[in-house]
Amino acid sequence: MAEVGNQTQAARKPSKVPNNYPIIRVRDVWVSFGSHAVLKGLDLDVKQGEILGFVGASGGGKSVLMRTIIGLVKKQKGTIEVFGHDVDRLSEEELHAIERRWGVLFQHGALFSSLTVRQNIQFPLREYLNLSQRLMDEIAIAKLEMVGLPAFVAEKYPSQLSGGMVKRAALARSLVLDPEIVFLDEPTSGLDPISAGEFDDLIKALQQTLGLTVFMVTHDLDSLHNACDRIAALADGKVIATGPIGDMLKSDHPWLRAYFHGKRASSRLDGKKA
Ligand SMILES: Nc1ncnc2c1ncn2[C@@H]1O[C@H](COP(=O)(O)OP(=O)(O)O)[C@@H](O)[C@H]1O
Ligand SMILES: [Mg+2]
Repeated sequence: MAEVGNQTQAARKPSKVPNNYPIIRVRDVWVSFGSHAVLKGLDLDVKQGEILGFVGASGGGKSVLMRTIIGLVKKQKGTIEVFGHDVDRLSEEELHAIERRWGVLFQHGALFSSLTVRQNIQFPLREYLNLSQRLMDEIAIAKLEMVGLPAFVAEKYPSQLSGGMVKRAALARSLVLDPEIVFLDEPTSGLDPISAGEFDDLIKALQQTLGLTVFMVTHDLDSLHNACDRIAALADGKVIATGPIGDMLKSDHPWLRAYFHGKRASSRLDGKKA
């Protein structure tokens, strides 16, 4: 993995992770499905307090990496440390405690369609905590407010909401346990450019006010420019480069050139400074 740039972060909240130690540290991770190797010795650091944009070809293993980090996909080899803990060395109980410290917005099925937004947001609360209904209701409304949604949305079903509102509600659910890390898998895909831009602004605001670390899989070049502090690029099962967008744009690496200077990218970049 080539570190093609370095950028320090502004808002950081104190945590048990040692100073400057990555909040997520992935080393030599291998994941295969049958004979199909998807991750092939992948290394990645996520720094505390940053928004890391994770890019790569469709079907390349971005979601697989995210799901491997959070323990939903089994790796064949390698080490994953989160908050300074090797996840393989934790007891069930310790893992459960760690899981409470991150929130997830999945690529598909951001919300359960048979539950109201309120029930969706309260789902992790029910799973991890034992709170009164009244307190859970207060929390749901507070989280909706945090993501810029009015309280009445709580009683709506996902099908009654716009795409942008569903993503926000899903974000509210991922924030309900006051996590230190949020994993977002293509959160702005399917949104119109204005809603996507507003979502990016929201993520940035939350990062800055809450000191969140954000791991964001995205294809959205606007998000990469406007929201991400650093970018990691996945190709052939490995992270081939990490760095701020400026360094990605300057890189001579053929994959990065094709991705950031290809047809779609050049229309995006026309008239903009790298
Ligand atoms: N549970 C699974 N079983 C078998 N193959 C899988 C599974 N999950 C993902 N894959 C395969 O792994 C590859 C990477 O998938 P994915 O991580 O979803 O790609 P993307 O980079 O688009 O998110 C794909 O070829 C996909 O079909
Ligand atoms: Mg994916």
